[in-house]
Amino acid sequence: MASPVDELPGSALATPAGEPPGAAPRRVFLETYGCQMNVADSELVRGLLAREGWVVVPDPAEADAILVNTCAIRENAEERVLGRFTQLLQHKQARPGVQLGLLGCVATHQRERLLERAPWIDLIVGPDGYRDLPVLLRGGTDPRIEVRLDRDETYADLAPDLAPGPRAFLTVMRGCDKFCTFCVVPFTRGRERSLPAEAVLEQVRSAVGEGKREVVLLGQTVNAWRHDGLDFGDLLRRVARVPGVERIRFTSPHPSDVGESMIDAMAGEEKVMPWLHLPLQSASDAVLAAMQRGYGLDEYRRLLERIRARVPGIAVSTDVIVGFPGEGEVDFEATESFLREVRYDFAYLFKYSAREGTRAWKIEETVDEAEKGRRLERLIALQEAISLERHREQVGREVEVLVEGPSKRPPGHVHGKTRDFKTAVLPGDGIEPGALVLARVEDATAHTLLAVPAATAGLGASALGRSKSEPRDPGRSDGATPR
Ligand code: 5AD
Ligand code: SF4
Repeated sequence: MASPVDELPGSALATPAGEPPGAAPRRVFLETYGCQMNVADSELVRGLLAREGWVVVPDPAEADAILVNTCAIRENAEERVLGRFTQLLQHKQARPGVQLGLLGCVATHQRERLLERAPWIDLIVGPDGYRDLPVLLRGGTDPRIEVRLDRDETYADLAPDLAPGPRAFLTVMRGCDKFCTFCVVPFTRGRERSLPAEAVLEQVRSAVGEGKREVVLLGQTVNAWRHDGLDFGDLLRRVARVPGVERIRFTSPHPSDVGESMIDAMAGEEKVMPWLHLPLQSASDAVLAAMQRGYGLDEYRRLLERIRARVPGIAVSTDVIVGFPGEGEVDFEATESFLREVRYDFAYLFKYSAREGTRAWKIEETVDEAEKGRRLERLIALQEAISLERHREQVGREVEVLVEGPSKRPPGHVHGKTRDFKTAVLPGDGIEPGALVLARVEDATAHTLLAVPAATAGLGASALGRSKSEPRDPGRSDGATPR
């Protein structure tokens, strides 16, 4: 690829520790799949390797080490990872010193099988092993595998190399203790642990120092965050006090961990945005029980009512799985009817995918693939119609848009998010990323608001730090799906 490496972040750093002076810096390519937590982990790895003198390059053909941060949550993860590594093998064949490394959840979940099928992978490192990467890349151990889960690892002291743009994703807790029966995360990412509040605040201050205006606090069950007697609501309030933060979001909270303190913070803090992603999974009590989600439908419904009463107009999104073992037509219809009742602003809809090692793995599947597909299609059609209505309700309103950059379509436009996390597109000659723009919504599709600037909010573009004008690293968007 054309971008010269000396224009990329990290290139000004000294030669790696232990390298003779004058040796060329070693170059790393890192590709990311999966959830936002994985994207944030990759930022951590980039930061860690940059401090060790590695230069991040945008093309595997230029790299001495090619790393793939993988996701195990659904369908054929192992096959897809193998397929990708088989493509990447060409670089190792062309330049024999090149190292191939597998990072992330698939490393913990499928290491044995992958080692058998792709013994040419040089290193395998799970989500708690990233501190060892510099040593592993130097060939410090044999075999070069670090997949142990570590109850205490939070990487609280490591500064991530944040992606360009006005939004920073910051991990505040890691792991999960919920053990929903369908989910592999507690096995691949280990037990729940929180970063100290001060470490989170330091990362927020540092993000603001780089010109970020919005922070998204991340965790598998983010609202389970707790540290030194503080709860998640306290954390939100503290983050809101950091000078320069304009917008705060978080994802994904678990319904069972929503406390009054969190709702108070959402209702009382202007900077905590009116959007909540509250995973439902199913609206059938029988299925929820089989999933061991820890709540029944009525509890979820009452919780949402409480939140909507305290934060009027809040946008709500969700995750739903169709075709869990035992899900009958009646169970599925309960979910359909609940989507109609709640009218989520948007929803991520998934077909159940049996994951080895989970409790549901042992339960015989009762819904075949074709039927899962039909149920998924029905929910998609329903949710698209609801999302369209929800977006159309915004027509004629004024919304505040945090501009992220040029829009793919139409030309001459920029895109950004409203306070309630809807995508807005507006004519944008001269509007820089990072600008907060007041805009009037003129039209809407199921996924986008089409708006025109009403007036700039007097909060023009800020310096977005070093990477403002660089193209996005292709690795960041490749296959990453929102969670
Ligand atoms: N099959 C299908 N969807 C799953 N999810 C997690 N595990 C599975 C699985 N085995 C979905 C859930 C979760 C989201 C992140 O991914 O809906 O909330
Ligand atoms: Fe997986 Fe989320 Fe359940 Fe944890 S709470 S087991 S991450 S679905």
